[in-house]
Amino acid sequence: MNSHGACLVSAGPDDLEAVMAIEQRCQSHPWSREVMLRYLSKEHVVWRLELDGTLIGFAVVTQIAGEAELLDIAIDPDYQGRGFGQQLLQRLLDDVGSKGNERMFLEVRASNMPAIAVYEKLGFCQIGVRRNYYPAKIGREDALMYCQELFQ
Ligand SMILES: CC(C)(COP(=O)(O)OP(=O)(O)OC[C@H]1O[C@@H](n2cnc3c(N)ncnc32)[C@H](O)[C@@H]1OP(=O)(O)O)[C@@H](O)C(=O)NCCC(=O)NCCS
Repeated sequence: MNSHGACLVSAGPDDLEAVMAIEQRCQSHPWSREVMLRYLSKEHVVWRLELDGTLIGFAVVTQIAGEAELLDIAIDPDYQGRGFGQQLLQRLLDDVGSKGNERMFLEVRASNMPAIAVYEKLGFCQIGVRRNYYPAKIGREDALMYCQELFQ
């Protein structure tokens, strides 16, 4: 199935188990349940992407003083590579833009080529590097900082 028919809804604390299941399958260094719950407890910060009522992905986006930040995004590995990640991020960009945010920031591991490809395809530009920012399997890894201006 392609990415048509998926819908985006705000997530809450009841989604913790389902969101963590995807987080743990997707990330080399997943967020803790405590950190995820903290964001799920805020309204309109965690977004769930559903297909026929099933959670297939989620994203965490904060909006502060006209600037949005994508803190986490993941698509269930069974559904990756079918356009869902791109659709999820585009919908988030549309949403934060419609609420008057001027730009969206994000950081990504320098080795995360699938994510970098999605970000650049959707118009994010690299604005900096944080050296040795993330813990890695061996040692540490750079974070690439990206930004998209929403009104140009
Ligand atoms: C990053 C992620 C959300 C992308 O979701 P996805 O649904 O697999 O991506 P899409 O199918 O929408 O791909 C969109 C574009 O990204 C690029 N892309 C996606 N996966 C890719 C891969 N493995 N290699 C290279 N490019 C890739 C392609 O350009 C693709 O467009 P195309 O199909 O027209 O060529 C997903 O891979 C994921 O959940 N990764 C694990 C969690 C993660 O790393 N999150 C980001 C950091 S928090």
